[in-house]
Amino acid sequence: MAGVLPWLTLAATLLLATIKSSTSRMAKPGCRETCGDLTIPYPFGIGPGCYYSQGFDVSCEDNHTFMHDSSSQMEIYNISLLGGQVRVNTLIASKCYYKNGTTTDGWASTDTAQFFTISSKANKLTAIGCYTLAFLRGYNKHTAGTGCLSMCLDQQSVDQSGRCSGMGCCQTSIAPNLTSFNITFDGRYNNYDVLGFNPCSYAFVAEQDWFRFEAFYLEDNKLTEKFKDGVPAVFDWVTGNQSCDEAVKDRSSYACISKNSQCVNSPNATGYLCNCTDGFEGNPYLEDGCQDINECQNPDQYPCHGICSNTIGNYSCSCTPGTHSIDPKISTCSADADSEKAKLTKMFIGISSCAILLLTCVFALLIECQKKRLMKEKEIFFQQNGGLLLYEQIRSKQVDTVRIFTTEELEQATNKFDSSREVGRGSYGTVYKGILKDNRVVAIKRSKIMNMVQKDDFVQEMIILSQINHKNVVKLIGCCLEVEVPMLVYEFMPNGTLFDLIHVTYRSPSISLEARLRIAQESAEALAYLHSSASPPIVHGDVKSPNILLGDNYIAKVTDFGASRMLPKDEIQFMTMVQGTLGYLDPEYLQERQLTEKSDVYSFGVVLLELITRKTAIYSDVTEEKKSLVSSFLLALKESRLQSFLDRSILGVGMELLQEVAQLAKCCLSMKGEERPLMSEVAERLRFIRRTWREQLTENASEEIECMLENPSNYDPSSTGRHGNLMALDLEIGR
Ligand SMILES: *[C@@H]1O[C@H](CO)[C@@H](O)[C@H](O)[C@H]1NC(C)=O
Ligand SMILES: *[C@@H]1O[C@H](CO)[C@@H](O)[C@H](O)[C@H]1NC(C)=O
Ligand SMILES: *[C@@H]1O[C@H](CO)[C@@H](O)[C@H](O)[C@H]1NC(C)=O
Ligand SMILES: *[C@@H]1O[C@H](CO)[C@@H](O)[C@H](O)[C@H]1NC(C)=O
Ligand SMILES: *[C@@H]1O[C@H](CO)[C@@H](O)[C@H](O)[C@H]1NC(C)=O
Ligand SMILES: *[C@@H]1O[C@H](CO)[C@@H](O)[C@H](O)[C@H]1NC(C)=O
Ligand SMILES: *[C@@H]1O[C@H](CO)[C@@H](O)[C@H](O)[C@H]1NC(C)=O
Ligand SMILES: *[C@@H]1O[C@H](CO)[C@@H](O)[C@H](O)[C@H]1NC(C)=O
Ligand SMILES: *[C@@H]1O[C@H](CO)[C@@H](O)[C@H](O)[C@H]1NC(C)=O
Repeated sequence: MAGVLPWLTLAATLLLATIKSSTSRMAKPGCRETCGDLTIPYPFGIGPGCYYSQGFDVSCEDNHTFMHDSSSQMEIYNISLLGGQVRVNTLIASKCYYKNGTTTDGWASTDTAQFFTISSKANKLTAIGCYTLAFLRGYNKHTAGTGCLSMCLDQQSVDQSGRCSGMGCCQTSIAPNLTSFNITFDGRYNNYDVLGFNPCSYAFVAEQDWFRFEAFYLEDNKLTEKFKDGVPAVFDWVTGNQSCDEAVKDRSSYACISKNSQCVNSPNATGYLCNCTDGFEGNPYLEDGCQDINECQNPDQYPCHGICSNTIGNYSCSCTPGTHSIDPKISTCSADADSEKAKLTKMFIGISSCAILLLTCVFALLIECQKKRLMKEKEIFFQQNGGLLLYEQIRSKQVDTVRIFTTEELEQATNKFDSSREVGRGSYGTVYKGILKDNRVVAIKRSKIMNMVQKDDFVQEMIILSQINHKNVVKLIGCCLEVEVPMLVYEFMPNGTLFDLIHVTYRSPSISLEARLRIAQESAEALAYLHSSASPPIVHGDVKSPNILLGDNYIAKVTDFGASRMLPKDEIQFMTMVQGTLGYLDPEYLQERQLTEKSDVYSFGVVLLELITRKTAIYSDVTEEKKSLVSSFLLALKESRLQSFLDRSILGVGMELLQEVAQLAKCCLSMKGEERPLMSEVAERLRFIRRTWREQLTENASEEIECMLENPSNYDPSSTGRHGNLMALDLEIGR
């Protein structure tokens, strides 16, 4: 027994020694680790093979550590391994003037080794004196300098509070990344005036928080006596001048060689440093330098209220059996009574999550049902709206011009009927601009709910409309029947309505007579075509300037007909319709409730009046009184003051023609239907008037117009802005 004990003790000591050495080893194996009280961690080292690269080579003399490589004796006071900094001494520059006439002139310079820079964050240039201007000239790839002036011409003005405030002492920042500096004084600031109490000026670079100014430093030699070895300054260091990204690639010189170490870009200098990863500590620059932290031994930093067990790179903490805590690292474990509660909580959580699951299922089902119902609804609407009939018709008559759209297609085309896509809104409903999948721009008309027309009629209408192919009729592209009131899809008219062109004043200061005649003629041709192309004739039923649209080049196209088929069936709706088209409605219709082609002729007469007078069908004159355009016109004609009634901007050359147009309008506006001309006659007449006007124009055409006509490419619409379009209207004289 007695023999075994020493052996055991020895083994234990050895074991302890190895553990101790492996946890606290900072220097390279086989190298000296301390000098005096200072631990010298690798990459620093004493002696060959013990340091990482030249600048980290240090020497130890009389328990003091010195930078081996530097020109001056630079002592190292402290080394911060993870912060990448060292505290070293730097020299004080001083300059004195003595009463006996001697001066001493001093400068102080410091150079750093490679990978070391003077910290700009931690240091300040400090100058002491009462008539002193100190300069620091530094180098960091550029030459960078700074200076500091202190004045206090009598002893009373010296700061006594210990602060470096500019009265006897001044401080200033230094440039970043300096590798060397030289402190000098300006010779013009000599101390002759103050030599009674301040013969010398001093200046140095030192750690800013370290220095405390005392008034007696101004006395002769007091400062240099107190800081014989110089003053402490902070240097930043890095283990390589590359960034981490580059350093990792260069395996041969990469400094972070320990397992569980990582590279960190230095925030203070150009280059990188190493650090141990989370859960490890030690020297990341040594092989196996980063050791697992035994967190359980340091409960202040790594709290655990239960049983702590260390793991590599981490630790776990659990409650003893029979106790419970939400997280024993944060809160204490408590006895079973509470764990019962916890069980209840768990149960509650379980039940509620079940309930949530169930609810989700129910919702999903409901949504599914809703979807089905919607589908069904769509189908019903489709049938109600005559979808099947249309399909059959399309098949039998081989109509291939009308397309049936789904609601989704139209929603997509109009961005879910976004209000930004609205191009028109009226009593009839809303018109949206839509862009189909094939990039075709269309107008989608979504009517307000009306007493639904007979489905056969509607489909018939669709078929007729789809077969109309006239350049002055807005083309119907398709429809959507899946909604309660069918939506119609038309070709898109970029230039708005005739109403807007002639009545919305901002649009146009003047529209040429030719343009007006052309629009009138084109509209008349369209109506004449409708009246003659089918039997029984298609009556538009709602001719008015808002229903004449303007396409590219302001070509006029008639839209929105088929009102005949959708005639109101009851009194209220009849009144609404009359309201809507007040001023245009055939007086005969009001009595007989029967729309004929001649009703269209009457309404067209009103449009003609609008074109030559630029007054709306119901207008208010200076007296603010609402007047009917038709009555006023007929009165003016009777009293032979037509000229004053017309739009002033077209008066002039074509007066006889305007008379003719007025006469034509008068015929159209006859009270009795049979007295009105046929639409084809109206169109013919307009064609004639237009031709005459053009002939007249060519006779006395101005040269300017001719020139523009011959060479239309001279005309640049962009240069004239909005009026460019109106110019275009004028140009069509030559067509
Ligand atoms: C260095 O320090 C050690 C212990 O701290 C002391 O024994 C030794 O005398 C010192 N050497 C010198 C030269 O001061
Ligand atoms: C730096 O070293 C000095 C002794 O040289 C010591 O008094 C001081 O506490 C050290 N400072 C730090 C931050 O380690
Ligand atoms: C960078 O400089 C600051 C201020 O001197 C210092 O606190 C820090 O330790 C330095 N190093 C790192 C890696 O942040
Ligand atoms: C002048 O005075 C200073 C300090 O009082 C002294 O150190 C220096 O030797 C003197 N010089 C001469 C030439 O006397
Ligand atoms: C510091 O500046 C002084 C004055 O300009 C100059 O004489 C001296 O050589 C400089 N020292 C160094 C190390 O550059
Ligand atoms: C980086 O350090 C290398 C030597 O390790 C040196 O050759 C190079 O000039 C340095 N680059 C910069 C930008 O300081
Ligand atoms: C100093 O070095 C830092 C870190 O690399 C860099 O971000 C900064 O631009 C440098 N400043 C100057 C003035 O060179
Ligand atoms: C080094 O790592 C420790 C934890 O592993 C972290 O707290 C510290 O901020 C890191 N230092 C730097 C300079 O990234
Ligand atoms: C340590 O473990 C905890 C969980 O127990 C985890 O949240 C944490 O991220 C781990 N830390 C490390 C450094 O792996």
